[in-house]
Amino acid sequence: MDWGMKNRMAQIIKPDTGRALMLAIDHGYFLGPTSGLEAPGKTISPLIPYCDSLMLTRGILRTSIDASIPTPIVLRVSGGTSILGDLSNEGITTTIKEAVRMNVAAVALSIFVGSEHEKETLLGLSDLINEGQEYGIPVLAVTAVGKEMGRDARYLGLASRIAAELGASIVKTYYCKDFNKVVNNCPVPIVIAGGKKLPEKEALEMAYAAVSDGAVGVDMGRNIFQSEAPVAMINAVRSVIHENAKPDKAYKLFLDLKKKNKSKKVKKK
Ligand code: R5P
Repeated sequence: MDWGMKNRMAQIIKPDTGRALMLAIDHGYFLGPTSGLEAPGKTISPLIPYCDSLMLTRGILRTSIDASIPTPIVLRVSGGTSILGDLSNEGITTTIKEAVRMNVAAVALSIFVGSEHEKETLLGLSDLINEGQEYGIPVLAVTAVGKEMGRDARYLGLASRIAAELGASIVKTYYCKDFNKVVNNCPVPIVIAGGKKLPEKEALEMAYAAVSDGAVGVDMGRNIFQSEAPVAMINAVRSVIHENAKPDKAYKLFLDLKKKNKSKKVKKK
């Protein structure tokens, strides 16, 4: 690996623990004003100190994130579709030059294995990797799931392995039963998405199960920013990812921090 590529990967996967806590706030690129991200800068700024990297689009990065933050950026560079249309028909929206200009640690795009547009998205991934290689920028491939796609170890294992075979440096996929099979068949680091909002304890259990099965971490969005106490939740997730805290312990931390933050707010008034 070239120095630049190694350096960027080390910004995302922390060398001291070998783990990654990525905060995903890129939902608007196909969902529009997602609940919790109506004013992304406001929601996200208290969370930034606790994530290792931030995944988002260039529009939200430019408009809503302070350029002086040291947090590494994983730039979503695919899109062109919305929930009103065929999500699998994505293309590349942002050039690699733009990614360099924004000093990103990695670029991300979705692949839709098994969909009508499987080939285009896989060739899109390959093109992005070819360009990323020229500049030492790692590519994170997101194995998208849709109506016509599965969510089991067989499907996610297939999609993750194909992403790695094409040269992705990191794969983002979903947690599933027999997740260890997905990890064992994928030669590059895997992070999981959180998916739809779950009760906090369940989200922490999922994060714990994923890292226990070999994921390097999470690229989690809604389960953090839609939590009733987002700062408490990101800290609890952090304890699972970087300290191997068991779900019960992490949940206790969540409850303690939630209580503390509440009493701070009351005192401020
Ligand atoms: C998916 O393709 C996007 O990257 C999502 O924004 C990401 O997966 C969301 O994370 P979560 O499912 O944890 O809200």
